[in-house]
Amino acid sequence: MQRNILVTGGAGFIGFHLARNLAMDKRNRITIIDNLARGRLDREMNELISKDNVSLLGLDLKKPENLAGIEERFDCVFHLAAMVGVKHCMNRPEEVLLTNALSSMNMIEFIKRSRPGRVLFSSTSEVYASGFDLGIVKIPTPEDTPVAILDPLNPRFSYAVSKIFGEQLFHFSSRSHSFACNTVRFHNIYGPRMGYAHVIPEMIKRAKEGENPFKIFGFDQTRAFCHVDDAVEALKLVMFSDIDGELFHIGNDSEETNIKDLASEILKRVGVKARTEDVPAPKGSVARRCPDISKLRKFTGFTPRVNLEKGLDETCGWYLEDLSKNKAWE
Ligand SMILES: NC(=O)c1ccc[n+]([C@@H]2O[C@H](COP(=O)([O-])OP(=O)(O)OC[C@H]3O[C@@H](n4cnc5c(N)ncnc54)[C@H](O)[C@@H]3O)[C@@H](O)[C@H]2O)c1
Repeated sequence: MQRNILVTGGAGFIGFHLARNLAMDKRNRITIIDNLARGRLDREMNELISKDNVSLLGLDLKKPENLAGIEERFDCVFHLAAMVGVKHCMNRPEEVLLTNALSSMNMIEFIKRSRPGRVLFSSTSEVYASGFDLGIVKIPTPEDTPVAILDPLNPRFSYAVSKIFGEQLFHFSSRSHSFACNTVRFHNIYGPRMGYAHVIPEMIKRAKEGENPFKIFGFDQTRAFCHVDDAVEALKLVMFSDIDGELFHIGNDSEETNIKDLASEILKRVGVKARTEDVPAPKGSVARRCPDISKLRKFTGFTPRVNLEKGLDETCGWYLEDLSKNKAWE
């Protein structure tokens, strides 16, 4: 089936992998919107947009006028563009709130005008961060867990607040204006080309630089890492279905890993023998994270296919090559 697909944030991490995967089917026409605030026009992105069925609009979604000239009707809209990252939350919480809220509001106005068939909003496991501190989040975490904001005056929660707002805006607009819409909450997606401000690439970089002793921040914490190829598969299963008005976790519930074990797997792959030093996690960091993905399994048949061993082989390989050519980028 021929599909006209819009991916916002398509020059970033997940959006790029999604757009590249969708573009492999020549019947799909992919339009990417990304202002390149974090996304990059690197070799892989240039290769992607050189394809006949892919185009990039370098637009800032914060400005409604940027969407006014788009006449095209899309069958599917994946809204992935957002300002992400703990560093941004702590240093520029107002910008995080405004970027994510305004982008969502402008996308909704565009959707109401252009009437796409199906829409997907991307949210985050970070909506549970306060709940962990409050002791109301069980592991594995199902979608019906209450979301909470422990302290509205703490900048750390700006990202979660912007995403909770986006979830409600997309859901209730879709009910009021009759378009099919689902929300996904990603849980620790990893893979090539995600920048260096994430635990896996950051460890690869420090290991490659020969840090000794090698510091393991949050050594006793756990995370359930999900390879980006599995996340892309899950996005497609939700989008190309009849499902409407639902909320799903996207993650890998079989890969909960201790950060100390992760570090030793990375040191092994980078090929360095460093002494290690256990360092407590920064204040406010969640001790344990693992999604319950049984709802996604039940609705779509989704099964994660890339185990951590294979995913780390690929990811470490990609980063070691990148570091040999480029400086670490955000
Ligand atoms: N990677 C994860 O593990 C993870 C976890 C939870 C949620 N998410 C969500 O998934 C989505 C994609 O995340 P990602 O990891 O690929 O992040 P990313 O930062 O790599 O990609 C986001 C993209 O959005 C673009 N963007 C930001 N502001 C924009 C604006 N105003 N106009 C146009 N483009 C803009 C950036 O340039 C970037 O390319 C985000 O919505 C994020 O909140 C990701």
